[in-house]
Amino acid sequence: MRKGRYTFGGANGQEEYTDFNPTEQAAEKATEKADGADCNAEALCDPSVDASVGEESGNTDTRTETESEAHGGVECLTDENNKTSAAEISRGNEVISIRNMTKKFGDLLVLDDISETIYEGEKVVVIGPSGSGKSTFLHCLNCLEDPTAGKIFFDGVDIADFKVNINEQRQKMGMVFQHFNLFNNMTVKKNIMLAPVHIGISNLRKLKRRNAFVPLNNLLFKMFGEAHNAALEKKVQSYKTRVNKLKSELEPLILEWETTKGTKEVAGKSFAIYDKKLTSKKLRLTDNIEKTERKIDRAKPMRMLEKQPVETSTKQIKQEVSALADRLLARIALSDKADVYPSSLSGGQKQRVAIVRALAMNPKVMLFDEPTSALDPEMVGEVLDLIKQVADEGMTMIIVTHEMAFAREVGTRILFMAQGKILEQGKPDEFFDSPKHPRLKEFLRKVL
Ligand SMILES: Nc1ncnc2c1ncn2[C@@H]1O[C@H](COP(=O)(O)OP(=O)(O)OP(=O)(O)O)[C@@H](O)[C@H]1O
Ligand SMILES: [Mg+2]
Repeated sequence: MRKGRYTFGGANGQEEYTDFNPTEQAAEKATEKADGADCNAEALCDPSVDASVGEESGNTDTRTETESEAHGGVECLTDENNKTSAAEISRGNEVISIRNMTKKFGDLLVLDDISETIYEGEKVVVIGPSGSGKSTFLHCLNCLEDPTAGKIFFDGVDIADFKVNINEQRQKMGMVFQHFNLFNNMTVKKNIMLAPVHIGISNLRKLKRRNAFVPLNNLLFKMFGEAHNAALEKKVQSYKTRVNKLKSELEPLILEWETTKGTKEVAGKSFAIYDKKLTSKKLRLTDNIEKTERKIDRAKPMRMLEKQPVETSTKQIKQEVSALADRLLARIALSDKADVYPSSLSGGQKQRVAIVRALAMNPKVMLFDEPTSALDPEMVGEVLDLIKQVADEGMTMIIVTHEMAFAREVGTRILFMAQGKILEQGKPDEFFDSPKHPRLKEFLRKVL
């Protein structure tokens, strides 16, 4: 698990110097601290949350190269087969882009250098044998498990980067688990209301705290702003000069590096390999460029601030979320269960509540981990019907399931995971009717 919500320091663990606006930074820190105290791991989504941390995601191209180093290989390996298949099926905007994601538990390699992209509106169904890493894959996507190596760009932000405020990003992902994970000490309606109310109130507090800092910020700006900004500008110029110098070293190096390209066959797949020394040098340079560019991005000058209008109140937030919860319960025909505790619900009812609870946060993507596998057979249909409805409304979804008929009906793309890899993927008809990989053929023979 991720240790801190917001940790400073570079990939090598060293503290990085960050230029900053002292007053704005103080306000942010106060906010982080207050939020950390009562933040709930289940908190899901609020579209109004300021995603400014995303500014750190920087130049994605250079990062891919850097990551290969984290794999411990100075040979730069590219799974060309995997790239092609994803590109062929691509549609819409990228929502999640996974780059060279690896997950190990001790010595156990569960996810092995996976690169994959999920596009807006896709219903990606993940199937595979037990223990093949499907749940781990989903957990890594919203950092319930931290990948051992790799990048996961969600909505443009690398959420695998420890500097990113993961709770802000998780709010945009709804997660539904096999065992519902409802809070048994709260009524059904409270379960649905918990996260949106928490986020709404927390945003309101942030806004109020920011407004409270405005007079101090403006006073400091008047006293030190000009000198601070002039010194900052000087520093930014020196960073820019450094970036240009590094880039001018990198360009010829890349040309030379590309001439060393060769191929290597591993387990029937072909990988590109390059000269180790040049690869290592290239990674060092791109890493340096990226770090320096991030410093430039973060160098925010001091400025005068204005108070922002506070247009809501705690009471109003609670009323609005309560009305939303009522609508969601009506949608799943469970209005009469609003005030009961989850223990008195059937499995199917619990799972439908869990699904609308996730929807209450208006997520950008929904992740389902075997949502029906803990249900009695007669309850499976009602849950699958609800998921289908949500799918038809255009939600981007990643669904791990053993329900093959459902996968075929709802999925727009099916991924087969085994041996820590996505061994095959395709559109449902082609995937199920003409499987190619022997491991997939064997798997389908058993489950169909
Ligand atoms: N927290 C953990 N610590 C150690 N090993 C783990 C942990 N979580 C999962 N594993 C191991 O990782 C491997 C993949 O597990 P995972 O739960 O992702 O598989 P799965 O494909 O979801 O299986 P299933 O279909 O049975 O749910 C298994 O060998 C499992 O024992
Ligand atoms: Mg699982």
